[in-house]
Formats: sequence, C-alpha cells, structure tokens
Amino acid sequence: MATVVFVSRPAGVLSRISSSCGPAAFAGASVATVQQRNLHHAVVPKGKGGRSSSSGIAATVFGATGFLGRYVVNRLGRLGSQVVIPHRCDQYDLMYFRPMGDLGQIIFMEWDARNKESIQRAIEHSNVVINLVGREWETRNYRFEDVFVTIPQQLARATKEAGVSKFIHMSHINADIRSPSKYLRNKAVGEQVVREEFPEAIIMKPSEMFGREDRFFNYYANMRWFGNAIPLLGLGKKTVKQPVHVVDVAKAIVSAVRDPDANGKTFALVGPNRYVLHDLVEYIYAVAHRQFVPYPLPRPFYHLAAKIFAMNPFEPWTTPDKIDRFHTTDMKYPGLPGLEDLGITASSVEQKAIEILRRHRRFRYLEAELDETKPAKTVNY
Ligand SMILES: NC(=O)c1ccc[n+]([C@@H]2O[C@H](COP(=O)([O-])OP(=O)(O)OC[C@H]3O[C@@H](n4cnc5c(N)ncnc54)[C@H](OP(=O)(O)O)[C@@H]3O)[C@@H](O)[C@H]2O)c1
Repeated sequence: MATVVFVSRPAGVLSRISSSCGPAAFAGASVATVQQRNLHHAVVPKGKGGRSSSSGIAATVFGATGFLGRYVVNRLGRLGSQVVIPHRCDQYDLMYFRPMGDLGQIIFMEWDARNKESIQRAIEHSNVVINLVGREWETRNYRFEDVFVTIPQQLARATKEAGVSKFIHMSHINADIRSPSKYLRNKAVGEQVVREEFPEAIIMKPSEMFGREDRFFNYYANMRWFGNAIPLLGLGKKTVKQPVHVVDVAKAIVSAVRDPDANGKTFALVGPNRYVLHDLVEYIYAVAHRQFVPYPLPRPFYHLAAKIFAMNPFEPWTTPDKIDRFHTTDMKYPGLPGLEDLGITASSVEQKAIEILRRHRRFRYLEAELDETKPAKTVNY
C-alpha cells in the first residue's frame, strides 16, 4: 500500500513532491520550499515514525468522543499525526485523549453541528476530515435525519469548500432505504448526500462493532439484569450477524487515510465469520459463564417494552429502532472492497470476546480458561 504525504493546502504543491520522495527525504530536502509556501509545520513529515514524529497528517475527527473515536484518535496519534477533536462535552471528559499524541498534537475545540463557522474553524488547518458522528436514539434536538443526513452533508460541504482532499464518512453495512429501522434508512440517505457533496469521499460500512465499550455484546450480556431471560425476535434464528472488531475498523480508517487509491471508494467492513444471532448470544453467555435462557418475543410486544426504555431522557438502554436494527441480517457486498484490501486481517469474535465479557463473569469464573467454551457455529448464508 502506498504511503501518501498529506499537505493538501496550498493545493497541488506536494502532489508532485510526494510521488517522487518519501517523508524522510522530503523533510530534509525541502524545508526551505515548504516555508516559502506557508505550510503549517504539522503537515510537514519529520522523524522516524511513532508518536513523537510528524506523519504529515492533520486530521479533524468529528464524533471522536464516541466508542470508535478513541481508537481512531489513538491510531492517528501513534503515527505522529495532529488530531483536532471538535467536542461538545466537558473538558474533563476528554482527558483520556491527551496521552494519545505528543504535546500539542491533540487539539480540542468546541463545536456546534448547527453552526457552520464552528465546522469551518475545526477543519481549517487539517488535510483529512473524518465523520464519526452518530447516535443510536433520537432526541428532541437531533432526529436521525439531523445526525445521519444533515450533519454529514454540512461536514462534506464544508470540507469540499475548504479544499481538503480526504473525507471519510461512517455509514452502516445494512444502510438501506427500505429498512424497517429509521436509523438505517437515514444512513442510506446520508451516503447519497455525502457522495453528492463530496464525490471522492471514502464511505465505510461496518457491521455492528464489538469492543470493550460496545453497545452490542455488552447490551446482550447486560440483559441478565432482567432475570437471565433473553428476548429475541423469532428466538434470533432468522437473523445472521457478521460483527467486526472496533480496532479493525479504526485500522481501516487510518489505512484509508494513508492510501491515495482509497478516495471515492466504499468499503464494507465485516468480521471473518457469520453467525445466527441466537448462536452468537449463546456464545456471549457461555464466555461470560452465565446461564442462557432465550425466549421468543413477538415484535409488537418487544417494541412496547422498548418504548418504555426509550422514554429515558438520558441514554435509553434500548429502543424499538435498536431492536429492528439488531434483528436485521447483515448484507453481503461481494463487489465492495473490505478490510483485506486495506491490508487488515479481521479479528474473530472468538479471539476478542473475552476482553469484553470477562467483566460480566462472576468472581469465581474470572480466570476460567476460554478453551472450555465451545465456539459459536458459523454459517455461510
Ligand atoms: N457502534 C456500532 O456498532 C456501529 C456500527 C456501524 C456504524 N456505526 C457508525 O459509526 C459511527 C461511530 O459509531 P460510535 O459507536 O463510535 O458512535 P457513538 O459512540 O454513538 O458516538 C457518536 C459521536 O457522535 C457525537 N454526536 C452525536 N450526535 C451529535 C450532535 N448532534 N452534535 C455533535 N456531536 C454529536 C457524539 O458526541 P457526544 O459524546 O457529545 O454525544 C459522539 O462523539 C457512527 O456514525 C455510527 O452510526 C456504528
């Protein structure tokens, strides 16, 4: 995979240089040229690689404070990239980002998704813009249309106007205008508007992501609070899932940032195996050493129960939309490039599940060997 040197503005200056020389040669040979052209030092590659070097990447990561964001920022930071983190939360909630980059490399700024100026300010010194903004439930202020269509459209437009050449947008493997889930319908529209505003945008379509802070494996494991009985539509036997590890998705984003050929492509990011939802949840409970008692719940009753949770004004544990989304079979996209095309070997559920599920075990099973747990059955359909 080729490595690209990012110095997008003033435009065209480095495209010629970067194709002929690597970052090290560039750093030594053309400092004078670079200074004449008023390039910001953050986008001049220097050093041997690693957190204390400079990769030439200055990335603005919208939605960095979410689940995926911390992995993306960490991966960018360890290359020696400058990362701008637009946020709307308290300063104290951002402290975990600080060690992810060298001094001055992680920059925080407040933004408001409805304020065009704040978007422009966040991207004005960057040569890569990544949109990870998302929400699993609707709020009074932000409906799914706002989060998945209007905000991505504004970000793509502002990025284009600023002359930035890389824009990465997160969609979903099941984004589909005919989906029963409003989240997924809006994700499909979001993909379209981003392509219209920024035809060379890179669109990532991951399946449900699992990882320590996820809302997938932890969601099912936490269902034990309700008496170990796990409600699943049709016992989860009609749904097939192909979950992907969050670190693989973060690696894919960083590889796409560095790969000049990735522009304009859509990537389908899925794990190596497909599982029937029932078997996957059974495996989650087996790793957690908890009893698995599934029962079939008709959709209207499940929705009714979820509507009660959805009234929570803070973070609803579930919503009717989440139930529809989790019971949607993951689509297959044989024609789209995936993790392997970005040089990544996908991690399997069996390799990583213990990291997430150990904390759901009782004390006496904390150290129990994973070998005793039978892997979940995989399927090909
Ligand atoms: N998690 C998955 O399994 C999965 C699967 C497929 C696709 N995706 C997509 O991948 C992306 C990242 O997922 P994630 O799980 O990391 O999402 P997440 O944990 O829900 O984080 C979402 C981020 O978006 C920000 N955000 C949400 N609404 C906002 C608003 N109105 N204004 C400003 N910022 C806003 C949040 O900021 P605050 O912290 O301030 O709220 C947070 O930083 C999302 O687009 C998601 O739809 C996720």
